[in-house]
Amino acid sequence: MTDERDAFRPRHLLVTGGAGFIGANFVHHVVREHPDIHITVLDALTYAGNRANLTGVPDDRITFVHGNICNAELVESLVSAQSTLPPIDAIVHFAAESHNDNSILDAAPFLRTNIDGTYVLLEAARRHDLRFHHISTDEVYGDLSLDDPHRFTETSPYKPSSPYSASKAASDHLVRAWHRTYGVRTTISNCSNNYGPWQHVEKFIPRQITNILSGIRPKLYGQGLAVRDWISVEDHCSAVWAVLTRGRIGETYLVGADGEYSNIEVLRMILERMGQPADAFDHVNDRPGGDKRYAIDAGKIQRELGWRPQYTDFAAGLDATIEWYRTHRDWWEPAKASTEEKYRLQGH
Ligand code: NAD
Ligand code: TYD
Repeated sequence: MTDERDAFRPRHLLVTGGAGFIGANFVHHVVREHPDIHITVLDALTYAGNRANLTGVPDDRITFVHGNICNAELVESLVSAQSTLPPIDAIVHFAAESHNDNSILDAAPFLRTNIDGTYVLLEAARRHDLRFHHISTDEVYGDLSLDDPHRFTETSPYKPSSPYSASKAASDHLVRAWHRTYGVRTTISNCSNNYGPWQHVEKFIPRQITNILSGIRPKLYGQGLAVRDWISVEDHCSAVWAVLTRGRIGETYLVGADGEYSNIEVLRMILERMGQPADAFDHVNDRPGGDKRYAIDAGKIQRELGWRPQYTDFAAGLDATIEWYRTHRDWWEPAKASTEEKYRLQGH
């Protein structure tokens, strides 16, 4: 197992997508846990990005840059900047178009951001010999059948189903190629479904919670039998830190917390916790090509890096997440009506 003596100690991180759900949680995590590190956030503030997600981060710990990862001149200016700050020594790459349903409507932004954007960042890492950590998803492996005894491992074949997961798979391949061909010091983490604060209301758990808080019936795709492997975003953030600082260069690590639940089980837990009858939801169209089941074997990151998830009580995590959305109406309400309208047009 690698220990702290082998650790890479970054001084200045470029965090792409740091105003999105997981990126913002990661920024808060690093600011809280690692006092000596400066963070430059590069975020295009798409519909999914929100500067308010970084509220509370002290100004002297963060430089916020509103811009696009596809803009090679901008990226070059950030990684070559001379200032009183230490130079950027690592890129932690979260920025992406991240929602499957959107990718089915229009794949173009997914190919641009997830593939072209990753290429731009890899080239910057190559020119400046930066450490590069790529945040990816278990969805690159396609899906498992509901009764398959196996889970995904780092050697599972790539078999993406949607434009979103295909674009993430393509970006993983670029990262591997830039390591093998050019020697860029890369790592990849492929994580399962996250939940927690600052998740956009388009995603499954926040959509159902905010529907109930808005007097709208929750919407379940199909019969709700699809299974997702849920992990607290805080555990994902600690895993990213472990891989960034102690991961073996060129390697991939799967991240998950043994949190498999069917969608209908999750919805029933939310309904019960929010004082709703068990049948107070609508069945809506399933997603074309929707993946049946994701399940992660996180043995490698546990064995090699000693990482363990801390927030494995999913019911307690749901309670905390419901409470967060109850008390942050101002944050999610502006996005709610347009999100629901988009879903209505898709039959969801
Ligand atoms: P998100 O949609 O909440 O946030 C994405 C962020 O990237 C936003 O702030 C957005 O403004 C920014 N962005 C988008 N395009 C950009 C561009 N061209 N230039 C600069 N910034 C841009 O996504 P998320 O759920 O936080 O996911 C973050 C990463 O984690 C993604 O790479 C995603 O594939 C991966 N991931 C997500 C999950 C999950 O459950 N949400 C699970 C595993 C992996
Ligand atoms: P989602 O949060 O979009 O994550 P992903 O597709 O990346 O796993 O959806 C999680 C699961 O929930 C997926 O099987 C689709 C389903 N779902 C619903 O049943 N209702 C909804 O309103 C949404 C958004 C998703």
